[in-house]
Amino acid sequence: MATPPQFDQIETLLTCAFGGPDEARLVRRLRAAGDMAAEYVSLQGGVVVSYAALAKFGAPHGWLALAPVATLPEFQGRGFGLSLVRAVCARHAKAQTIVVLGRPEFYQRAGFSLKRAARLTSPYPIANTLLSGPGADQPDKTLVYPAAFGAV
Ligand SMILES: CC(C)(COP(=O)(O)OP(=O)(O)OC[C@H]1O[C@@H](n2cnc3c(N)ncnc32)[C@H](O)[C@@H]1OP(=O)(O)O)[C@@H](O)C(=O)NCCC(=O)NCCS
Repeated sequence: MATPPQFDQIETLLTCAFGGPDEARLVRRLRAAGDMAAEYVSLQGGVVVSYAALAKFGAPHGWLALAPVATLPEFQGRGFGLSLVRAVCARHAKAQTIVVLGRPEFYQRAGFSLKRAARLTSPYPIANTLLSGPGADQPDKTLVYPAAFGAV
């Protein structure tokens, strides 16, 4: 779990990994709005090298959005990102449905399914939306992202 003393490092990590301030701002807004469910980090020698956040959907109630996910550029390609996403899912996806918007090749390796997300209605592209967790095989729900996403 990320702790407040790590927030500055997380901000730097997100800005470097995404090449701009949008995702760091998203995280600040999610925290401020009370829409952050959990934040996870991987550490290497005390340095935060990888980060993953779970935000609370407005609807369906109890569902979580995995975003953002990032690894410091100089630590990418060493397995940190995939290990962290797998650990987040191992902890949450038995009891809660997690949705991610991203590259299918990456998230499928952590157990996310494109097919299971196919009948969701989302403001973002369904072709890049994946689902993990319990419940119906292809739930027919409308995703309401936390307001912070609209501000990005
Ligand atoms: C995407 C990201 C989080 C992956 O983190 P990472 O620590 O580099 O990932 P890993 O080293 O665990 O990669 C695991 C595997 O996924 C592959 N992979 C990494 N990023 C990938 C991507 N964007 N698309 C497809 N495959 C990817 C790696 O090649 C690796 O494959 P291998 O095991 O066969 O070598 C990282 O590249 C990143 O921060 N990117 C910029 C921010 C971003 O785009 N985040 C959103 C992700 S949708």
